[in-house]
Amino acid sequence: MRESVLVTGATGRLGGALLPRLTELGYKVRGMSRTVRSGGDVDWVTADLTTGYGLAAALTDVHAVVHLAAAPYKRKYTDHVELDGTRRLAEVARECGVAHLLYVSIIGADQIPWGYFRTKVRAEEIVSSGRVPWSIVRAAQFHEFMDQAFSMAARSGLMIADPGIRAQPVDVRDVAHHLIRRLQAGPSGETEDFGGPEVLAFDEAARQWLEARGKRRPLVRMKVPGKVGATFRGDHLVTDATPTGTITWKRYLQEQGRSLG
Ligand SMILES: NC(=O)c1ccc[n+]([C@@H]2O[C@H](COP(=O)([O-])OP(=O)(O)OC[C@H]3O[C@@H](n4cnc5c(N)ncnc54)[C@H](OP(=O)(O)O)[C@@H]3O)[C@@H](O)[C@H]2O)c1
Repeated sequence: MRESVLVTGATGRLGGALLPRLTELGYKVRGMSRTVRSGGDVDWVTADLTTGYGLAAALTDVHAVVHLAAAPYKRKYTDHVELDGTRRLAEVARECGVAHLLYVSIIGADQIPWGYFRTKVRAEEIVSSGRVPWSIVRAAQFHEFMDQAFSMAARSGLMIADPGIRAQPVDVRDVAHHLIRRLQAGPSGETEDFGGPEVLAFDEAARQWLEARGKRRPLVRMKVPGKVGATFRGDHLVTDATPTGTITWKRYLQEQGRSLG
């Protein structure tokens, strides 16, 4: 059996991809959730980052923590989880002698003046200024996130996309694989990017989504206005870092199409 790893946000999109990979590789996996859970090869612990409930028990006898818990776009609760919660996690991890705190942030977070991205940068600072040896991986937009965003956009009857914004969407299975590489390499004390296998303009990503979902919506190519739009067109959502993921947006859409029936 390999060392013990605590995954916060274990029930989320990325957590769902990471847990089975870790257990397959023989790690002793502890999954954190605010809800009581059981089952699988995972030792589930109930804890809440905003209150500290259960944290000491969750972090006892743990070698590494993969910190994925997040509450995006939930106003004050977002900061409560990602800032107060990350600070609390880092403190208890230090008290418990955790050897590696691996935090997942978002590609371009330090370049784009967008509320949630700003929160991620502040959480990165908490991790990197703490006393637990650390690594930070800034991942590109997950396929599920893009899928959800296009799905919401399509509800208006139009698909509006800015062709000047380019992204490098990544599959959570690839991110999970990369996080395990990071765990195996040990704390780097560095922040690195991890993107998907191809760079796609938003209008092309939207076109592929409409085609895969069989939705007949006019694709309207339009610039996102203002300073934020200009910053998003600044190519901060893409990276030349290697390695990258291997699963393309098209493949993800095909697989989803099959599972949707
Ligand atoms: N989505 C993207 O495109 C993207 C791109 C790059 C990086 N990231 C980052 O990758 C990480 C994982 O993202 P994801 O999309 O997998 O997240 P997600 O699906 O939104 O899941 C987040 C998890 O956080 C847990 N959580 C929320 N509040 C909590 C609290 N107070 N205490 C403890 N746990 C709490 C929830 O678990 P329970 O409900 O079970 O408690 C939930 O499963 C995040 O840091 C995110 O910012 C995401």
